[in-house]
Amino acid sequence: MFPITFLLLSALAALPGRASDLAPDPQDFAQNCANCHTIGGGRLTGPDLKDVSGRRDKEWLLKFVVDPKKMLDGGDPVAAELYKAHNNVLMPTIAGMNAARVEQLLALIDAESRLEKSRFSGLELINRPLLPGDVLDGKALFLGRKPLKNGGPSCVSCHSVGGMSGLGGGLLGPDLTGVFARLGGEKTLAAWLISPASPIMKPVYAARQLDPRDILPLVAFLKDAAQQGRPADSIARLAFLILGLLGAAALYVVLDSLWGARLRGVRRSMVNKRSEAHDV
Ligand code: HEC
Ligand code: HEC
Repeated sequence: MFPITFLLLSALAALPGRASDLAPDPQDFAQNCANCHTIGGGRLTGPDLKDVSGRRDKEWLLKFVVDPKKMLDGGDPVAAELYKAHNNVLMPTIAGMNAARVEQLLALIDAESRLEKSRFSGLELINRPLLPGDVLDGKALFLGRKPLKNGGPSCVSCHSVGGMSGLGGGLLGPDLTGVFARLGGEKTLAAWLISPASPIMKPVYAARQLDPRDILPLVAFLKDAAQQGRPADSIARLAFLILGLLGAAALYVVLDSLWGARLRGVRRSMVNKRSEAHDV
């Protein structure tokens, strides 16, 4: 009697689990996709997914979402085109993604696409305009003069940017002067920073995700850097160049005084020889 009840009970306990396995899971989308995709709210780091089932083959979607890199590396033309259209930012492979989970996510995206306004139509991050004070604040955060709220390393350890002194930034990451435009402006840059699509930055900030209160000033600073061009940097470079030229000139003077006499001696004797030859 007992084993049967037990079996029945465990079968019952398993049922709701099964059912919810099949139902669309908004949590999964919220946690793993919404940082990069809206449904009906326009592009972030990735494209707006509204009605994506209408514009792509189901088979293709299953394969792509499970492993975007494999699709791109395999030479899939659609993946290549998307990649190009997104400034060569590749969608990361989401941990534990499989076909069944993609089916659920697609069901959710389809359902949300039919709504007047999906709950995923926007990222609630840029919820106030950037303020003038943000630029200085962002600069302090970037340079590490002010610690990041969640304790991650400061940006300057890997990046340089125009507007800071030209010789200071780290070299592991690219110069960020033009990144504001490259990634498409405030909203998309902010979204990018929440979940960096970079194999190097992602693990560094995974446990210390950038706080939105830090992201806004950083975005303001990078926007300002893009608008300023790179005055500090180009002056620094010019100074570098002039110093380099002066150095070369000084080196020439030194070498000339060390070797010049000898060289001139050799040349004089050659000239003499030549003129002797002419004389004949
Ligand atoms: C870090 C950012 C990021 C995350 C997180 C992310 N994506 Fe993407 N996604 C992209 C980018 C960028 C593209 C454009 C293709 C490319 O360049 O890789 C893309 C493309 C797609 C496409 C193809 C869209 C089309 O128009 O054909 C689908 C579908 C998609 N993502 C679904 C998802 C789902 C579902 C999740 C969550 C499980 C997710 N993505 C998580 C960045 C992301
Ligand atoms: C441990 C080194 C490291 C740190 C610290 C770091 N980054 Fe990065 N970042 C990189 C690398 C490397 C790349 C280039 C993408 C890649 O190859 O992974 C990058 C790329 C970027 C990009 C995208 C550039 C592009 O053109 O696509 C942005 C934006 C960015 N970083 C902003 C920041 C900000 C803001 C901070 C500070 C909060 C920061 N990074 C801290 C290493 C770092």
